[in-house]
Amino acid sequence: MKSVVLNKKVRGAFVPRSSNVELPFVAVTFAMTVDGKVTTKNYDSVDFTSREDKAHLIRQRALGDAVLVGHGTIENDNVRLGIPRDDLRKERIARGQPPYPIRVIVSNKGRINLGLKIFESNFAPIIIFSTTRMPRKTREQLQGKATLYLSQARRVDLRRMLQKLRYDFKVKYVACEGGPALFRSLLEQGLVDQLNLTIAPFLFGGKNAPTLTGVKVDFLPRSVRCSLKEMRVVGDECFLTYSVRKKR
Ligand SMILES: NC(=O)c1ccc[n+]([C@@H]2O[C@H](COP(=O)([O-])OP(=O)(O)OC[C@H]3O[C@@H](n4cnc5c(N)ncnc54)[C@H](OP(=O)(O)O)[C@@H]3O)[C@@H](O)[C@H]2O)c1
Repeated sequence: MKSVVLNKKVRGAFVPRSSNVELPFVAVTFAMTVDGKVTTKNYDSVDFTSREDKAHLIRQRALGDAVLVGHGTIENDNVRLGIPRDDLRKERIARGQPPYPIRVIVSNKGRINLGLKIFESNFAPIIIFSTTRMPRKTREQLQGKATLYLSQARRVDLRRMLQKLRYDFKVKYVACEGGPALFRSLLEQGLVDQLNLTIAPFLFGGKNAPTLTGVKVDFLPRSVRCSLKEMRVVGDECFLTYSVRKKR
């Protein structure tokens, strides 16, 4: 697998800098408590949702050409990002998709732990968008395990990342599973199309436990308007689908 440095000299396929390259549809799936928390203040991998919600997450993931997560989420939740259901994999194949979505991780610093479970499985490609801040040793260790796109900027340009996925990997639908810091960045840049939100019957409290948009004290640059498209209640949980209005 290859390692590509974006900007200036680009090996591999080139994505034009123009913002006219079509972007994939981005659907983000989250579960939160009644008081809006997505985890505890220690960012523990807490299990506060039902089997129905876990099945819902897998169904949403199964729609994606790519499943996207931030480094914090893969580090904390340590998941393989597979589709553990034969029927959903068959549905994908019937739609002309491969059985599993491409797995995409975003990290600015690139200090990726090679011991994560995702690197034990090779059922779908792993693509990591990071920067040249990624330690050389990590780059070497990732050889053969993931495709690296390393930008020379301090932070990954998320719009360019989505363009790259669309352009080079034919990704039309991104199933993003957070976490909150990545979601906030995507929202700030108007890159989210849909929010699938489960409200779970718990209250965590605590101002330092992240909400959907993390723990940043600043307001979003502008309020983001959502329209409720669907609401489903199963037991004590509420499953909401919002379409997110993009900034023009
Ligand atoms: N309840 C839910 O539905 C749900 C869903 C997802 C996650 N979570 C929870 O959320 C917690 C993790 O939160 P988090 O905010 O740390 O998660 P995150 O958004 O997955 O990860 C944050 C990290 O992603 C990278 N990142 C974020 N924005 C970026 C950008 N614009 N460009 C490049 N990289 C970017 C950075 O990695 P580097 O530090 O490597 O630079 C950043 O530190 C975990 O406890 C997890 O269980 C809950």
